[in-house]
Amino acid sequence: MSRPSNVVELECSACGKKYDASVEHHLCTCGKPLLARYDLRRAAATLTLDSIKNRPRTLWRYAEVLPNDPAVSLGEGMTPLVHAQRLGASISTTGAGATAKRSISPTGESTGSDKGGLRRLFIKDEGLNPTGSFKARGMTAAVSRAKQLGAKALAAPTAGNAGGALAAYAAAAGLPAVIVMPADTPAANVMECQAFGAKVVKLNGLISDCGKYVAEHKDCEGWYDVSTLKEPYRVEGKKTMGYELWEQFGGKLPDVILYTTGGGVGLIGMCKAFDEMEEMGWIGAARPRMVAVQAEGCAPIVRAWEAHQNSAQFFQNAATIASGLRVPGPLGDLLILSMLRQTKGTALSVTDEEMLHAGRELASLEGIFAAPEGAATVIAARKLAASGWINPEETVVLFNTGTGYKYAEAWQRALRSAPAE
Ligand SMILES: Cc1ncc(COP(=O)(O)O)c(C=O)c1O
Ligand SMILES: [Zn+2]
Repeated sequence: MSRPSNVVELECSACGKKYDASVEHHLCTCGKPLLARYDLRRAAATLTLDSIKNRPRTLWRYAEVLPNDPAVSLGEGMTPLVHAQRLGASISTTGAGATAKRSISPTGESTGSDKGGLRRLFIKDEGLNPTGSFKARGMTAAVSRAKQLGAKALAAPTAGNAGGALAAYAAAAGLPAVIVMPADTPAANVMECQAFGAKVVKLNGLISDCGKYVAEHKDCEGWYDVSTLKEPYRVEGKKTMGYELWEQFGGKLPDVILYTTGGGVGLIGMCKAFDEMEEMGWIGAARPRMVAVQAEGCAPIVRAWEAHQNSAQFFQNAATIASGLRVPGPLGDLLILSMLRQTKGTALSVTDEEMLHAGRELASLEGIFAAPEGAATVIAARKLAASGWINPEETVVLFNTGTGYKYAEAWQRALRSAPAE
């Protein structure tokens, strides 16, 4: 499938300044992220639920709302949306209908009976992407575009999974990559980057220090900076999680989405997808309520949310086993917080112990071996259902953003602790 791109320009997410999308751009002159804008009328003419049915089972099936095509692809996207009936039944709810007995498939038909709880609980299992995380989505788009724009070498700081994904797509694109990561990043992330032929730089510090290293070296080394939100296309790849939900729910969206938030690109991307869908006339003004789930040891967004602030403060001494959530100063803070407000969402944090426990629950109840980041959403769902914020009739999606197979250190700790009930 090859068609002209519908991208018309890049636009600053903060000040609205416009940029030519046919040349390389990173941040706006005001320092904030740029977003790709499309001719959505043209996109909507050929992108329909019916037209995509027989397209390839990768995220590139949504080509009309992506930057370019053909792409550097490893088969990313179209991850399973699992109806988590056993986990859902184990979640205590308050509110009307909590004892009714039925269960429903993604498209809404009844498939049998269960014991109440959250009957329409689904898990979008991003661990099944190439390199085992949703980071593949962002990197297929960013690396494809970087290659087209003539990049000679790619570089990014990483908390772990983004580095592995960048290294893999750079290898597939035939481009060198430099991955800068904290020295205590999970061993599997280091190994995969090395296996893909990337140069790995380890620093004693956090992803924010790694980001500074890339920023300081990129010009003299000639690197194309693929850092989170410092180029416009990783968001484009990640927004396809929103398009897939719409497709997998038969042209509808869920009521609540729980998303584990580090840099926030997934959350920003999905909200962007929903805005595009509204502009294409697919949905109305209502939105899924977005929930940002963070680790108690690094929760800048939760702190800002609780303090009713529009921006987040740098989170000092960030520490959590969920390496992907160790992002103390997310560049997209304004966007994330405004999206939580606009969708009537919320933000909450969970402890490392809770994540380890929830990982075992998810594995033993649903057969999903999750990253601690993904497991965090289970705890958040329990808390929100118990408080009545989520009601038992609602359709709820938890994102398992990565596979547990790359978190040997965290899983060893989880399996040493008390068994899951
Ligand atoms: C498994 C996993 N989940 C979640 C995140 C956070 O992602 P985002 O930047 O989209 O908030 C990361 C980031 O590294 C991750 O690796
Ligand atoms: Zn700007």
